[in-house]
Amino acid sequence: MATTRRTAKSTPAAEGETAASPEVHPDQQPATLDACRRCALWANATQGVPGAGPKRAPIMMVGEQPGDKEDLAGLPFVGPAGALLDDALAEAGVARKEVYVTNAVKHFKWTPRGKRRMHKTPAQREVDACHYWLERELENVGAHVIVALGATALKAVLEDPKSRLQDSIGTVIEHGDRLVVATYHPSFALRAPDPETRQRAYAAIVAALQDAKKLAQRHKK
Ligand code: URA
Repeated sequence: MATTRRTAKSTPAAEGETAASPEVHPDQQPATLDACRRCALWANATQGVPGAGPKRAPIMMVGEQPGDKEDLAGLPFVGPAGALLDDALAEAGVARKEVYVTNAVKHFKWTPRGKRRMHKTPAQREVDACHYWLERELENVGAHVIVALGATALKAVLEDPKSRLQDSIGTVIEHGDRLVVATYHPSFALRAPDPETRQRAYAAIVAALQDAKKLAQRHKK
């Protein structure tokens, strides 16, 4: 069988650069992620990173966007943030293979620092453009409980750019016929400057996953 080898792109177009401006069609309805030109992030990413998990799942976890490792692997949460998420899932008694894991934005947005590709937070217009894909995943997977990992995910899931993570942590938000549990992004629990904040953020992620599990079990009955 023929295989496609992918290598990381190493030269992002400078922002605002016109000559090298990538093709963008905001109203495009692409059939595949790699054909997506709804925003410009496709141009500097190795590949689009779709969600992963069972076709139907009671819980969906939504992160921000793929990181460096995810961009190369084509899978969500396989790098350091994913390792922390795996620990939190294990502590909460939730099997990752039973949960659908995805991101609000499907292409890695980055800026070069030396040889490294540093994460750059996606703009709201990129989150909006990518809602096309998130909506499809929400419909197909049919999860009743959505765990929003961080502020970008919360805004994307609620389709409300004004929603604030700090106001939502520890609460269950009814959104249509779904329940949204908001918590910190695993990268915050990894990289917050002081150990107490990291520990508190990690405990909050575990608590959110425990809540999600209870809500999903209640819905099943
Ligand atoms: N951070 C995210 O938000 N998603 C990933 O898949 C990896 C890191």
